[in-house]
Amino acid sequence: MNSPFILTIFGGTGDLAQNKLFPALFSLYKHGLLGERFFVVGFSRRSLSDAEYRDFICKTCDKLKTGDTVMVNNFIRNVYYQQGFFDNRDGYDKLIPRLSGFDTETGACITRIFYLATPPDNYEHIINNLAQTKLSEGCGLAFTETTSGRQIDGRKLTRIAIEKPFGKDLETARNLDIKLSEIFEEKQIFRVDHYLGKDTLQNMLAFRFANGIFDPVWNNNYIDHVQITASETSDVSTRGKFFDGVGNLRDWGQNHLMQIAASVVMEQPQSFTKESVRDVRAAALGSIRPITPGQVPEMVVRGQYEGYRLTKDVDPDSNTETFVAFKMFFDTPRFMDIPFYLRAGKNMMRNDVEINIVLKQTCHLLFKEYGCPEIGNVLRIRLDDPNEGIGIRVIAKKPSAVYKLDTVDLSFNYRERFGKSGSHAYPKLLLDILTGDQMLFNRSDELESTWEFITEILKGWDIENKSPHWKIPGYKPGSWGPQEGIELIEKDGRKWII
Ligand code: BG6
Repeated sequence: MNSPFILTIFGGTGDLAQNKLFPALFSLYKHGLLGERFFVVGFSRRSLSDAEYRDFICKTCDKLKTGDTVMVNNFIRNVYYQQGFFDNRDGYDKLIPRLSGFDTETGACITRIFYLATPPDNYEHIINNLAQTKLSEGCGLAFTETTSGRQIDGRKLTRIAIEKPFGKDLETARNLDIKLSEIFEEKQIFRVDHYLGKDTLQNMLAFRFANGIFDPVWNNNYIDHVQITASETSDVSTRGKFFDGVGNLRDWGQNHLMQIAASVVMEQPQSFTKESVRDVRAAALGSIRPITPGQVPEMVVRGQYEGYRLTKDVDPDSNTETFVAFKMFFDTPRFMDIPFYLRAGKNMMRNDVEINIVLKQTCHLLFKEYGCPEIGNVLRIRLDDPNEGIGIRVIAKKPSAVYKLDTVDLSFNYRERFGKSGSHAYPKLLLDILTGDQMLFNRSDELESTWEFITEILKGWDIENKSPHWKIPGYKPGSWGPQEGIELIEKDGRKWII
């Protein structure tokens, strides 16, 4: 970034700001990628001065706590605070002179980025207030050349970034999009799904299309099924307020899991341009085979870990799911009738986000009597710490006098090969927002397709919830989720790969 920018973070004292945004900003700063002068303004309910907010960030953000003191001090002086309630115009009115003060200080009309890092219930209030106070219009000094001369168009100098989940269902997502498009042009809108920013997921394009060996088998002649597991050992912890109104289907299912699946299903883009890449992603998601609420009991499982209801800010009678698993299909020529099994859970046995592409078993033809393993070739793509990498499970002869088969893994690990992790997304995403590159951000049609599918599940759950004997399946913390999640795949004669 050569030019200054103002990044206003709504939810400036929240979990996302502390754990993702500030560490990412600091990392960009350390690498000299934020330019000479920039302004980060936290906007939140608490009453804090700039100094108190700086102190708060330095104490709560691990990267800053352990960072080089001079570097931290130089970084943190670019951070400011504005107290305000998301649904009350007062704070926004006070933000106006603060932001224009930065313009005056630098003698420039600075690009303003509004980052919505709050629970999704606040999005509409924030967008409305940005529009009513005209903060959404920027400093008003950018010009567009038209046939009738130069016109002021400050909007060119504002951008809005919105975290997932984008809406609560299809209808609210559509309404949110309509609201946004009344105020911002598409090129100003950055719909964030941070999984798109992970190197490990971006690598799917390179892995699939830069290596000629995978394309010929990437279809229903060779692939038996695809598994995607996102298991987290952490529980909901301090995020009860956000999570209890959302649940794992909306927190993971509608976005991260779908984008991971899209990276498997999508075709090769024509070029590495924003629209080409978004086109192939959207086409993959547009091919999701619809389900009906009536199919939900057979294709979707939800669960809640024991003790969840005791979490701070969680309703003691909550039926919110901390685990979800479902089966789905993508009706493309390559993937027609290949089942995808997806699951995501909190408080699970292991931290792993992985894709397992299980190929059809052919070994039995010749080797049946020599111990053909139950599952043969598997392409295992691990997207998250601590095991980011790719492995191919192949069958080999064990060294012994008798002919016996076993499986072995050929593997590559990000940290071992490149000396660093490939799963930190926010530095990349923030840099893209600052420079205006939308390739790794959702387009409306992608969200529309995923919400169409997820909303049918929600409708199916509504029906289940009304049944007098229905109870959300429980599971033990540190397990692989409820038994029903295991049965989802086993009833098809398959097994989760662990
Ligand atoms: C977020 C979810 O989007 O992704 C969290 O809200 C989840 O619940 C997180 O823990 C996982 O991201 P990562 O990058 O840590 O795998």
